[in-house]
Amino acid sequence: MHRTAPLSGRTAIVTGAAVRLGRAISVALADAGADIVVHYGRSKTEAEEVAGEIAKLDRRVVTVSADLSDPLSAAAKILDAAAELGGADILVNSAAIFEDASLVEMTEDSYDRHLAINLKAPCFLCREFARRLTRDRGHILNLADWRAETPPADYLAYTLSKAGIVALTRALALQLAPAIQVNAIAPGAILPPPGGDFETWQTSKLPDIPLRRTGGAKDIADAAVYLLRSEFITGEVLHVTGGEHL
Ligand SMILES: NC(=O)c1ccc[n+]([C@@H]2O[C@H](COP(=O)([O-])OP(=O)(O)OC[C@H]3O[C@@H](n4cnc5c(N)ncnc54)[C@H](OP(=O)(O)O)[C@@H]3O)[C@@H](O)[C@H]2O)c1
Repeated sequence: MHRTAPLSGRTAIVTGAAVRLGRAISVALADAGADIVVHYGRSKTEAEEVAGEIAKLDRRVVTVSADLSDPLSAAAKILDAAAELGGADILVNSAAIFEDASLVEMTEDSYDRHLAINLKAPCFLCREFARRLTRDRGHILNLADWRAETPPADYLAYTLSKAGIVALTRALALQLAPAIQVNAIAPGAILPPPGGDFETWQTSKLPDIPLRRTGGAKDIADAAVYLLRSEFITGEVLHVTGGEHL
């Protein structure tokens, strides 16, 4: 029996799509039938590789580079790229920065960059996405973090930005209903920070995770496909943490 792919006919923008979780989400959405706008910052070669992988799945794909530290101009550029595919009806805000600093160590520059890239850019991407939506229905998926609702003592600016993402998700779920569903995934220990040693990172994480294992990019990609297929979930923050947030 022939089955239609669940996201067939849909077009998804994925920010930070060239590497790591953004890449896994992009390929999973393409595998589920969606055409993809691959946004990247500096990872041009990797973005072209992902685009090649998506094209092999017979999906349409465009790549677009935009610096999210300039949120309004990035949002316009990314939605212009989506227009090349006839407009988007899915927006996945995955790109982010993640730098450690406690309150006394934190610089104003680090605070401003976290808030601009991790919160202001997703917010104005949502605005541009909603303004330009030409189809009846749309779906926004934000990448949050379990830290947003259980703030630990470290990574202060990052945690504040992700707390904003959770608030944005719930506020927009109300504001943009009934046309646009808005959900978030709150990952736990999925991948070590870029360049980090996997074994050392995993060993340090396991005692805090009730399921006694770390996750993988597939856990996040599967959660993304699940939420984007749903027609009745909105305002939800789905924790994919092995229980760490508890
Ligand atoms: N990995 C985890 O275990 C984990 C855990 C909790 C939450 N999360 C959240 O899940 C999401 C994806 O995580 P990840 O680990 O895959 O993220 P990541 O590797 O740290 O970052 C994803 C991408 O964000 C892009 N980016 C950063 N600053 C940018 C800027 N100024 N302009 C344009 N793009 C910029 C970069 O793109 P380029 O490389 O193209 O420059 C980067 O590759 C993030 O929102 C993260 O906070 C991840």
